[in-house]
Amino acid sequence: MHYRRMPIEIESPEEFGYDKVLYNLSESSVSDLNMRELSLSIGDLDLSYIPHRGHPDFRAALAAEAGLQHPDQVLITNGAAGALFIVNSALLTADDHLIVVRPNYATNIEVPRAIGCGISCIDLTFEDKWRLDPQKIADAIRPNTKLISITTPHNPTGMVMTNSEIDAVIALAERHDLFLLVDETYRDAGFNTPYPAVASRSERVISVGSLSKAFGLPGLRTGWLLTQHAALMETFLAAKEMIYISNSALDEAVAWQFYQQKEQFLPAIQEKALRNLDILKRWLQTENRMEAVLPEGGVVCFLRIKPGFQVDMDQFYHVLTHEYQTMVGPGHWFEMPDTYMRIGFGFTSAELFENGLACIGQAL
Ligand SMILES: Cc1ncc(COP(=O)(O)O)c(C=O)c1O
Repeated sequence: MHYRRMPIEIESPEEFGYDKVLYNLSESSVSDLNMRELSLSIGDLDLSYIPHRGHPDFRAALAAEAGLQHPDQVLITNGAAGALFIVNSALLTADDHLIVVRPNYATNIEVPRAIGCGISCIDLTFEDKWRLDPQKIADAIRPNTKLISITTPHNPTGMVMTNSEIDAVIALAERHDLFLLVDETYRDAGFNTPYPAVASRSERVISVGSLSKAFGLPGLRTGWLLTQHAALMETFLAAKEMIYISNSALDEAVAWQFYQQKEQFLPAIQEKALRNLDILKRWLQTENRMEAVLPEGGVVCFLRIKPGFQVDMDQFYHVLTHEYQTMVGPGHWFEMPDTYMRIGFGFTSAELFENGLACIGQAL
């Protein structure tokens, strides 16, 4: 493996310093929850190793929600990032070929790059409303293709694949004996995804999910992967055991206790995100230098400065960050030109969100 740090992590607000950002429109999750807001009973928790697959009741609940038959089709992981690392490193070697969507959450491309496998990126475009054409995946399949990797709801665009688009990609995976990784980390974030976890549809699919984005619990580092393929799950468990044996007893206890209360939190979280999305829509009607394909899922939108409007982008981001203390996700976090920028609408209050948008206009 050849590791290198990703710009999205080097420049992330937690590395830059939360105290230096007033209007944080760079986050891709809903507002962070605080321990005080949860009803927890962890005072007498044993700090032992815990079951390597994860708490059986937690896995049973996740399996039921996903439409899976058995708790052993669920593996609790160290966030969705941990799940993505396990899946990519377990399935890909330098001799294999991967088909992956771009732009994307950087890890979905950078982990395979670190492995050194062949990679075909399927580039989504603003002009195509960020939609993924399954035919482009079909055209990219090679004899050594092992894995197709897609993200829906998509980061950074908020595109959500339709049932029939997903079925078309699953059919390709089945026909060519490939595996299909579906990063579903944004399921339930902002919007409800209108179908169960994709892993419930075929043994060739691995779904990845997390508590981070939809519930504002990224600090718990708790996610999961789902697959009906028993032999593959055994390999994923072996990978997890080699990397960190089990999740942290403390994180997983909090995660499972939260999971049982999650329905109490979800409506207010989603309402806040959709209110901010309305603010964004109204702002776009008045800010005629920018345009966007509006998101159908998740809590991020990938805007761009209209082609033809000339801006010195380095200066723009410098002024935005340092003079206006406003942070967005610049295009280069996603291997796109910096005229594109990701705006997260689930994280800040309506007032901060509105002010942050106004600062973007001022900086422009
Ligand atoms: C699409 C996607 N997948 C996975 C992750 C990682 O999430 P987690 O905090 O659960 O590791 C992110 C985080 O930004 C993401 O955007």
